[in-house]
Amino acid sequence: MTTQRFTLGFLGGTGPEGKGLGLRLALAGHEVLLGSRDFARAQEAALELAQHVPPQRVRAALNAQVAVDSQVVFITVPYPAQRSLLEDLREPLVGKVVVSTSIPLAFSQGKVRSLPVEEGCAALQAQALLPRSRVVGAFQNVSAVDLLAPDRVIDCDIVVCADDAEAKRLVMGLAEEIKGIRAVDGGALENSGYVEQLTALLLNINRIYRGSRTMVKIVGIRGLDTPTAS
Ligand SMILES: NC(=O)c1ccc[n+]([C@@H]2O[C@H](COP(=O)([O-])OP(=O)(O)OC[C@H]3O[C@@H](n4cnc5c(N)ncnc54)[C@H](OP(=O)(O)O)[C@@H]3O)[C@@H](O)[C@H]2O)c1
Repeated sequence: MTTQRFTLGFLGGTGPEGKGLGLRLALAGHEVLLGSRDFARAQEAALELAQHVPPQRVRAALNAQVAVDSQVVFITVPYPAQRSLLEDLREPLVGKVVVSTSIPLAFSQGKVRSLPVEEGCAALQAQALLPRSRVVGAFQNVSAVDLLAPDRVIDCDIVVCADDAEAKRLVMGLAEEIKGIRAVDGGALENSGYVEQLTALLLNINRIYRGSRTMVKIVGIRGLDTPTAS
């Protein structure tokens, strides 16, 4: 668990995923910048979070300012918006840890499918668009609805994938600051593709068991799971 406090920025931080992660990480003591294409929308989102955390801990900004002012930047826009957004922010994001949460999904006829991505997956696409940033894939399987309920303990694992070991450790530390979450090292960034695809399965299960918000727990990890008597 990290004790260092960071400025964490959310591109598209006005949606449930950006606001939810922002809320949880502001509660953990970090400064959070909620980004938007529209400053008024970002302000509205920041006011919402300020009901639960000290107001000075949450600020509104345009996405471009978020990229400049944040130490760690989360991509929390829909997958189709990622390419043009990141192309515009390549320079301010140089050297920074960038967390890819986006999932390439298609919804049709009551079903959810994973979309093919030329680069392999959304996280690899982000890394290709930001060659001098340190992209980490994480948080793709967590429910934003649960993140947004500040008193709810989120009992799930977050699989974190990256090629940069230090960036991965940092994001695993951030994930574990959210009550109930355990971070699991998912290996290289290319493994993010499996994590992203798992979300399609979870959403299909949510549709079968109406009202569910399924997440993931991985059992049997030697050294992480509680040993059983055998
Ligand atoms: N929702 C979940 O439970 C969940 C869970 C895990 C991962 N995710 C991933 O997290 C990401 C965000 O999810 P979300 O549900 O929060 O998404 P969302 O509400 O659809 O979008 C988030 C924000 O992205 C911005 N945006 C939308 N279209 C854009 C465009 N064309 N260009 C630039 N910005 C645009 C909007 O902000 P402004 O209009 O203010 O600019 C919007 O409020 C997605 O990639 C999703 O796959 C979501």
